[in-house]
Amino acid sequence: MEGEIEIQIEEAGLSSSTSEHGTLGQGVGNTLVGNTHEEKAHQGTSDHNATAGDVSASNKSWFYTDIVKEHFFNPRNLFKTKEEADTYFSDGMGFVGSPACGDMMKIWIQVKDDRIKECKWQTFGCASAIASTSMMSVMITENEGMVLEEAMHLKPQDIVKRLGDLPARKFHCSVLGDKALRAAINDYYAKHGHQEKVIEEKHRMIDHIAKVTDHDIEEAVLEGATTFEAVQKKTKVGVANKQCIPEVEQLIKFYKEKYYGSE
Ligand code: FES
Repeated sequence: MEGEIEIQIEEAGLSSSTSEHGTLGQGVGNTLVGNTHEEKAHQGTSDHNATAGDVSASNKSWFYTDIVKEHFFNPRNLFKTKEEADTYFSDGMGFVGSPACGDMMKIWIQVKDDRIKECKWQTFGCASAIASTSMMSVMITENEGMVLEEAMHLKPQDIVKRLGDLPARKFHCSVLGDKALRAAINDYYAKHGHQEKVIEEKHRMIDHIAKVTDHDIEEAVLEGATTFEAVQKKTKVGVANKQCIPEVEQLIKFYKEKYYGSE
């Protein structure tokens, strides 16, 4: 099919949901067809969703590095069949969805002597999510395996750096694997008598009227909204509650520096 990339992904018990790439089917051997918007990016067509303050408006960030493409077409440690996933023994499993795009990620880890010895994964994410998670699975298992403490604090920027960069608008895709990994490590800690090591991600309410949390603002920045106007357009933060605006602006600055570096 011209202009489309097809990925065969076996589904292992993921629930049915709709993502920007289409509807997840049920059962084994679903064909995930999508990423046409990424193909457009390769072809240099305009992005209708790009707005002022949206980092995707920059043409130069629309191209994938050779490393990203290589990991996308040859993902490491990806479960390729339902049987593989169903029969795999893991010490911890993490499952997260992306509020940014609705895609999902599952990660399984095997742990020995506090190090990650194996990492397997499945996703209904895009090319960037596949490449990022593939690279992440390599990073946490190479050199005898990363110690859990270190893996818990692995940053999406570290993964993106090893990939040689990602288009800014696709940065949130690299966060998906990273979050699922932390969930898997927490699951390992909880199952192996180390409840005190579990790190729960708590969110703080910023706008009580629009019900927008700091996490919502983080997700908006990860989606490419880097000005107050762009974040407000996505979240409605500060529309009725003007008092929260200075705090929102501070958070945008913080997340911008965290994920895209200082200007
Ligand atoms: S767009 Fe959903 S994971 Fe990339």
